[in-house]
Amino acid sequence: MASGRVLLASLLLLAGAQMLAFGQNNNFSAEKVGWIRFLVTVNDTWDPDGCIATVATDQLLPNKKYNQSEKIMVGSCDHGPLVYTVSNAVGSARESAKMFVDLTFYSSVIEDAEPPTCHIPWNGTYVSPRPGKDARDDSPLPGCVTSDSREGWYLTYYWFYLLDWGWAP
Ligand SMILES: *[C@@H]1O[C@H](CO)[C@@H](O)[C@H](O)[C@H]1NC(C)=O
Ligand SMILES: *[C@@H]1O[C@H](CO)[C@@H](O)[C@H](O)[C@H]1NC(C)=O
Ligand SMILES: *[C@@H]1O[C@H](CO)[C@@H](O)[C@H](O)[C@H]1NC(C)=O
Ligand SMILES: *[C@@H]1O[C@H](CO)[C@@H](O)[C@H](O)[C@H]1NC(C)=O
Repeated sequence: MASGRVLLASLLLLAGAQMLAFGQNNNFSAEKVGWIRFLVTVNDTWDPDGCIATVATDQLLPNKKYNQSEKIMVGSCDHGPLVYTVSNAVGSARESAKMFVDLTFYSSVIEDAEPPTCHIPWNGTYVSPRPGKDARDDSPLPGCVTSDSREGWYLTYYWFYLLDWGWAP
């Protein structure tokens, strides 16, 4: 019986911790981001046959340098380190989101230009669908899109979404 009660108490504690982690009123902040898994799509138009692929990354830690970071593979279209930082929004920027994820993908496609960067507004949660919109037009994943050129001509398109994340204690 005693062990049953301990188990029940532990389960309640766990449930409580989950609610703290995911509750609406939680104070999400940049310092608490432990890792993020990204969903990355590359549409590589440099390849004469075209190449488009979407992958989910492993859990990536924030604040890594490109040379401390493992390469991600985007199918056969692209590869390279994906690095990011998270900052808290200040002032009027807080109206659009609590935090911003700034990422840089050292894309193997881009040789003679700055690597693609992207800026994701994020409240620390998934995005609720807007009422009356087709669900296919409303991604629940916070994300951003950018493009970059090779030899000033061939545009490659990049999409980045926050698929999953963990909070540091
Ligand atoms: C949430 O964060 C704000 C500002 O960072 C702080 O003033 C407030 O006390 C925090 N609330 C809780 C419940 O931690
Ligand atoms: C990928 O890029 C090509 C060339 O610009 C374009 O025709 C195609 O529609 C793009 N595909 C997607 C899914 O964006
Ligand atoms: C990564 O690059 C920085 C400078 O850009 C250098 O100081 C550091 O030693 C490098 N780290 C590794 C593991 O190569
Ligand atoms: C963050 O929350 C605010 C207030 O609810 C909302 O207006 C904004 O659209 C949200 N932003 C994101 C990126 O989810």
